[in-house]
Amino acid sequence: MTMPRAAAVPVTPESHWDVERVRKDFPALHQQVHGKPLVYLDNAATSQKPQAVIDALVGYYSLDNANVHRGVHRLSERATEAYEGARSRIQRHLNAASPREIIFVRQATEGINLVAGGYGRKFVGAGDEVVISAMEHHANIVPWQLLCQEKGATLRVVPIDDRGDLVMEEYARLLGPRTKLVAITQVSNALGTVTPIEEVTELAHRQSIPVLVDGAQAVPHQPVDVRRLDCEFYVFSGHKAFGPTGIGVVYGKEAWLERMAPYQSGGDMIKSVTFEKTTFNDLPYRFEAGTPYIAGAIGLAVALDYISGLGLDRIAAYERELLAHGTELLAAIPGVRMIGTARHKAAVLSFVLDGVHPHDLGTILDHQGVAIRAGHHCAMPVMARFAVPATARASLAFYNTRAELETLAKAVQGAREIFG
Ligand SMILES: Cc1ncc(COP(=O)(O)O)c(C=O)c1O
Repeated sequence: MTMPRAAAVPVTPESHWDVERVRKDFPALHQQVHGKPLVYLDNAATSQKPQAVIDALVGYYSLDNANVHRGVHRLSERATEAYEGARSRIQRHLNAASPREIIFVRQATEGINLVAGGYGRKFVGAGDEVVISAMEHHANIVPWQLLCQEKGATLRVVPIDDRGDLVMEEYARLLGPRTKLVAITQVSNALGTVTPIEEVTELAHRQSIPVLVDGAQAVPHQPVDVRRLDCEFYVFSGHKAFGPTGIGVVYGKEAWLERMAPYQSGGDMIKSVTFEKTTFNDLPYRFEAGTPYIAGAIGLAVALDYISGLGLDRIAAYERELLAHGTELLAAIPGVRMIGTARHKAAVLSFVLDGVHPHDLGTILDHQGVAIRAGHHCAMPVMARFAVPATARASLAFYNTRAELETLAKAVQGAREIFG
């Protein structure tokens, strides 16, 4: 094996989403928890992996394992070919202009830190401003907060309305000559809101402000075209997109990456080193110090092959249907309040149940085999905005079924009866 194998396309016929056929590709889904069939609804935290991804990892370590870029021997050539092949695959998936614009990192969190370190350290100064939104994950808040503290800059926050939509008039008002970057999520992990990224970039670009998009919750659910979004930076995590944990991606427009300071330093990111001076490597290697997660990159490329094979538009359409069904079932339960009712949503059912703490609800559901998440979802400002300490969150993937949502609703109803 040198290149990752593409997954078979398991959906037939054209118009029909054969969810049972798709589920066969995911071994983890076929198990019992507390004696009940697993209903996995924690996909926003991490997704399950198709057999093709598992096979790619086993195949790489079984046959091709070697370090990349610096070997002259056959295994190293094979590993390099597979690793760089994965980069090109990801470039095509995002419709980036060049593989030089694709940088492998550990996950979205490291991707945002890379941009904060490489772009922020160089281009943000005292008195400048960074604009984020009130629905960001902590990963897209804290790096900017630290940068602003270090530089004497100010963090500005676009508010969200009661449905969980960005208040676009406020966004437009916040942009100005001091704004050095906008960093906004494409899909909120706590609310499911899909933000109007094209409008976000268009407004920012009128004032020549670069935009970073946090795509951690978008890549698993919909097609992403970074040239259409026209963002300067786009980050996502492999593990939420059916790939391995420990691998993620930063897309950056080449012109910006070329101007950025190095992020981490060490081997592989250099062209030459003396004790007096180091010259840095070309893109994208300048931003990939040290031995990368080779198997992870290969596994991620296979995961993206897999979802492309299913059809991202079809995935999005099926998940819209699931989301509508789940919303209807939950909202019909007395005492349930949905948190996040944006006009355009993806894959997230966040809710609270009167008189039952989300953690208790999560534990009760677990005993029915239903895996959800309870807590602040690393988005404490969202909880504050909706005046709740936590929510229960069921998050969907294309392998979930309508019947699983019915099990969820029944279990929530059962919890309500227990707490009386
Ligand atoms: C919107 C969003 N951004 C960033 C992250 C951080 O992802 P990771 O922990 O994989 O870096 C998450 C994780 O839940 C997320 O949902």
